[in-house]
Amino acid sequence: MSTIHKINELKKQRDAVILAHYYVNDEVQAIADYVGDSFYLSKAATNIQAKTILFCGVSFMGESAKILNPKKTVIMPDLEADCPMAHMADSAKIEQLRREYPDLAVVCYINSTAKLKTYSDVCVTSSNAVKIVKALPNQHIYFIPDENLGRYVASQVPEKHIILNEGYCHVHKDITAASVQKTKEAHPGAEILVHPECTKDVTELADYIGSTSGIIDYAEQSKAEEFIICTELGVLYELKQKNPDKRFYSAGHQQCCPDMKRITLEKVAEALEQMTNFVEMEEELRIRANRPLERMLELG
Ligand code: 13P
Ligand code: SF4
Repeated sequence: MSTIHKINELKKQRDAVILAHYYVNDEVQAIADYVGDSFYLSKAATNIQAKTILFCGVSFMGESAKILNPKKTVIMPDLEADCPMAHMADSAKIEQLRREYPDLAVVCYINSTAKLKTYSDVCVTSSNAVKIVKALPNQHIYFIPDENLGRYVASQVPEKHIILNEGYCHVHKDITAASVQKTKEAHPGAEILVHPECTKDVTELADYIGSTSGIIDYAEQSKAEEFIICTELGVLYELKQKNPDKRFYSAGHQQCCPDMKRITLEKVAEALEQMTNFVEMEEELRIRANRPLERMLELG
């Protein structure tokens, strides 16, 4: 039996649906029921009828699905797939800033541990961060953990005081302005599409800045025929499917998230067969982490 056939059989037996982020391997995206950016996937997770959610992504994604759907069984193909940035903020600093600014709102990128979410007022993703920060009544905002997304939000919401934290995504940080410019010299007609996790000098070169789905939608609607993609290159699978006649170039880097790439078809089949890789957490932690996520769904 092929691995794909096995997965389809096991899905029926386990009453499971598969959610996958655009950064996982192409063949995993191909067998998923829902593929999307972080916001789409968290919304999708709340509307699932099946008993089991198999989340193909990194741990904060599976955790968020479980926090929002405590009654569902949530499993992951590889529990070790983790986003390093999700850990890059510190509760002591949050408490210190809360003392300093009584009206502080702690805005937490969904790329964060459940524990960090419990210290936060609202979660955001790259597709709704600007909208949510604008909508908050608070003047002082502490944006965790991603400095680059925080800086991008600050540039779009200049009327607020946004305090940044020193977290980063190593995949996006490694994309340099010099190599984006070099790629542009080789393809002068190409539009530069940039994820807001990239550094400031890269976002300054952008024709478009947005989440993974924002980038995919922009490329589809644009009249341009060539694009330089400044994000993890898993997005190429969807970009090429939707735009077979357009050309896509990397920004001259590997642009590969090793954690996302841990998810393979074999591990998907194994997780469904063994039903052991459960996402679990204490109920008290779940309830506290759920508040900022629910607030994001209301405001986003
Ligand atoms: P989005 O798909 O929401 O743009 O998130 C990017 C990301 O880094 C996920 O790990
Ligand atoms: Fe984390 Fe970056 Fe990988 Fe996304 S691409 S999971 S932000 S390390």
